[in-house]
Amino acid sequence: MATKNNIPWWILGSLIVALASLFLAFQDSASLQGIYQFKFFESSVAPKYLFGSESVCKQAPILSPTNTQVEQFIRDKVEDPKYQTEIIEKLSGLIQIPSESYDDLGPIGQDARWDIFYQVEKYIKTKYPTVLKHAKLDHVNTHGLIFTWEGSVSTKSSKPILLLAHQDVVPVLTENVPDWTHPPYEGHFDGKTIWGRGSTDDKGYLISIIESMDLLMKSGFKPKRTIILAFGCDEEISGRNCARPISELLHDRYGDQGIYMMMDEGSFGLQTQFDQSFAMVSVAEKGYMDMQINVTSPGGHAANPPDHNAIGVLSEIIMSIENHPFPGKVTTKNPIFNFLECAAVHAPERSFPLNIRNKLQRVENGEVTAQVQLAKALDNMRYFFRTSQSVGKINGGVKINAIPELASTMVNLRLAVDSSVAEVQNHYENLIRPISRKHGMSFQGFYTEAPDDRRKISLSAIDALEPAPVSPVNAEAFRVLSGTIRNTLKPLITDTKFFWKLTQNIYRFTPINLVHNLNRAHTTDEFIVAEEFVREPLFFATLILNADDTVAK
Ligand SMILES: *[C@@H]1O[C@H](CO)[C@@H](O)[C@H](O)[C@H]1NC(C)=O
Repeated sequence: MATKNNIPWWILGSLIVALASLFLAFQDSASLQGIYQFKFFESSVAPKYLFGSESVCKQAPILSPTNTQVEQFIRDKVEDPKYQTEIIEKLSGLIQIPSESYDDLGPIGQDARWDIFYQVEKYIKTKYPTVLKHAKLDHVNTHGLIFTWEGSVSTKSSKPILLLAHQDVVPVLTENVPDWTHPPYEGHFDGKTIWGRGSTDDKGYLISIIESMDLLMKSGFKPKRTIILAFGCDEEISGRNCARPISELLHDRYGDQGIYMMMDEGSFGLQTQFDQSFAMVSVAEKGYMDMQINVTSPGGHAANPPDHNAIGVLSEIIMSIENHPFPGKVTTKNPIFNFLECAAVHAPERSFPLNIRNKLQRVENGEVTAQVQLAKALDNMRYFFRTSQSVGKINGGVKINAIPELASTMVNLRLAVDSSVAEVQNHYENLIRPISRKHGMSFQGFYTEAPDDRRKISLSAIDALEPAPVSPVNAEAFRVLSGTIRNTLKPLITDTKFFWKLTQNIYRFTPINLVHNLNRAHTTDEFIVAEEFVREPLFFATLILNADDTVAK
């Protein structure tokens, strides 16, 4: 199949980390148009946001490696049926190792459930002897793997390129196995599609990047810029066991901003939006926080209850939380704005709602009313620019005839890119403090101590993580990435938090059509389409070659 572009399409730096369900809402551009297109003309549209305008969302030129021999070798390879059969078998075999990670895993070395990762390592070594031969392998906390293929130029004058993937997968519950069309750990290939847990998230990515290194080694390519592959073991849980120590080792080795560019799995890939193909590179990541709220009050016999006990007060708090969601507002700090700008000038004119188009300039001018109006117009993709809150757990009471002494809840939050942990915590303190006053209870905020009172409301934050810094879209590295995407991918006709110190150029992108592939990640019938998967290494190899070309001679 040809890999040349013949339809215009566009690359942009866009969001994000989002949930699969939001992802579906995002997809629903047809309904967006249906709802908004017939709206009245509110104001004129700034010329720079008209279709075809060249002043925003400038596209990088197609970038071809100067080493055309190596490039041709890789291009021929990915079209070779024998290679295709082999790489599909490699992925299928890796899926057959159920490297599940669990929330309650103990430390590596103590909890035997980690031992499955020895098999993953052994498998990689067996399938990629050439990589083992030319790249140095470091182990980090036993199961974190770093392959370093050293370039001829020192890493001081030419920073390494880093490609990340994770070896672990989300567990499949035994009771869900019968729901799978093909058993989750069979790696079944039906001639078109490879099925199984991890096929997209993230074993397909892992095989693609190591395969690209393998192909480059076999092509005779000699890198100037050092190439690093790092495979974590716990992306689906916390990243503390592998991702963090990997980032620390790399930081010790290369220092602050010591990495040229870092690639990680993306949540969007190639997509059609507003009737146009877009390659969506995630350049930001929402923040995170779990909030625990405890309400304590003296117990006693149910025959002599207070008007409001701990469960009642907690209910009031939860209702108040849900009645005061975080306000939606689209600012230019949010990469979704960049996406809308690009869509305005590159999507067919009739497909991009005027109601959105005519607000862009005012949002850019910093008009808050326009920021809020734009958020309203985009309500079906609200969590791209809004902090989400979801009450996920509630506990309270032990016995029907006893007054509960403790009621508690856990709320899960994903912080908007332009928000912060402090802002979110303030919001809850301001919301809940009056409730404690109303009930004559003492209040303990996130950082304040309350007196030792038996009637108390207390808040605490678990795993609070600020939103990721937005990666630059004007950096050389982004130009290299965009140029590579345009060179190697066809338009559609159809854990990085520990690494922030290493580089600003963190781009999350999976070079396949994620609309249909990623829909099933984390659930039953996860799959990857073979004809896209087998060509992923062309993208990564070309990216490495193009990044190598930027090294000064
Ligand atoms: C809430 O109660 C649980 C269980 O007693 C305790 O582990 C936790 O630290 C408490 N949290 C706060 C915020 O007081």
